[in-house]
Amino acid sequence: MKIKCFILCWIVTIVLVVFSCKKDPTPEPPPYQPTPYQIKIPKYFPTQLNIPADNPMTVEGIELGRYLFYDGRLGGRTHPDSLMSCATCHLQSNSFECGINHPEYIGGFPHGITGKPTPHVMLPLINLVWNESGYLWNGFISNDNPLPQFKNIESLVWMGVVAEHEMNSDTTRVKELFQTIPGYPELFSKAFGSEEVTLDRISKAIAQFIRTLISSDTKFDRYIRGEEQLSDPELRGFILFTTEEGADCFHCHGGFGNPLFTTNLFYNNGKDSLFTGPYEDIRDRYHVTGDPMDLGAYKATTVRNIEFTGPYMHDGRFATLDEVIDFYSHHVVWSPYINPLMHHVTKGGVQLLPLEKQDLKAFLRTLRDTTFINNPAYASPGVFPDGTTFK
Ligand code: HEC
Ligand code: HEC
Repeated sequence: MKIKCFILCWIVTIVLVVFSCKKDPTPEPPPYQPTPYQIKIPKYFPTQLNIPADNPMTVEGIELGRYLFYDGRLGGRTHPDSLMSCATCHLQSNSFECGINHPEYIGGFPHGITGKPTPHVMLPLINLVWNESGYLWNGFISNDNPLPQFKNIESLVWMGVVAEHEMNSDTTRVKELFQTIPGYPELFSKAFGSEEVTLDRISKAIAQFIRTLISSDTKFDRYIRGEEQLSDPELRGFILFTTEEGADCFHCHGGFGNPLFTTNLFYNNGKDSLFTGPYEDIRDRYHVTGDPMDLGAYKATTVRNIEFTGPYMHDGRFATLDEVIDFYSHHVVWSPYINPLMHHVTKGGVQLLPLEKQDLKAFLRTLRDTTFINNPAYASPGVFPDGTTFK
């Protein structure tokens, strides 16, 4: 009887202990609640945005993406001589291109950490959230690409990390390094719900940051919003730009009703008559579609901030806007592949007179957006999460 009571007492005690242990609540981690970020669509801009469903924009994601975009250790290396970030080539002062006068990249072709030049000159990172038809000069990266790893801006991040002509690194090295840099795991946790660093998360965060880079405050925007007047030459240039009998630029580069100043589509604009060369070197639209009508076709880039993004065309063959305007005026050449929108090819171009060329250039210069290139939210954060400043 005594023994039975003793055992019972013990059982009751154990049950009580277990029960009270269960009741003692271990502190729950705070719920993962990133702050949704809404893109403010500027007046007259399209409302359709290219944001993948699996990467909604958040304040925390953008903050992390901005650090990573500017962090020279993104190639997985820490030695001062081997730092390279997205911003090594994509400079805010040049609408996120390197510009024709970059001290290292004279001529406009940047080179990767190995010294290998990029196959084309650069593209600006500007209003990319409105591009539905494909990134890169030939649109290879697109929602239409059947391969999931080549769909959107996210893809261009990991590709930049591994490309031989960019960071020439490997993804394991990069994620292992960032896992150990103080401050970063916490930022990953805020943006994605846990401290784990993955290349997928790095790509998502940087893509979110790039989608915030919006230009909508040029003199021309202010004119369209009724806030500022254009001068007479600028106005004459605008009319030339947007009329077929004038300079006939608007079909491919937008203008009235298309504030992006690009259709984001691909055209052969009549620079050459022969399209041969090693497959790997050409990389035109034909390279992507296999359709012979796309031989020599490239993206008609935006002409916003065009004065800061020379040299011009995918191969940088023109150094100045004057050269570009001369080309469209007098040196357009026929080939079976030229786009039918190049209406004036039989005359060799739109035949602008010297004064008209000046007017067209004056108009193109109204597309300079100094608010964009000076926007502090797009600039380097200066101090990185671990206190590094890269000085
Ligand atoms: C070595 C210089 C260099 C570095 C570093 C670099 N880029 Fe680029 N980037 C380029 C060039 C050149 C192009 C145009 C490539 C082409 O179409 O052939 C480009 C194109 C792009 C585009 C496509 C723009 C469009 O309109 O289609 C995006 C987006 C981009 N880069 C993002 C990044 C990101 C993110 C990083 C960092 C991970 C990065 N780049 C690092 C040179 C660079
Ligand atoms: C048929 C479509 C079409 C028309 C019309 C057209 N362009 Fe283009 N434009 C393009 C394409 C495509 C490219 C890129 C071609 C390449 O890189 O090989 C381009 C490139 C440019 C560039 C260089 C962009 C850069 O970032 O390097 C400028 C500047 C330009 N065009 C201005 C004009 C002007 C000004 C007119 C009118 C006189 C005009 N374009 C008419 C399709 C067109």
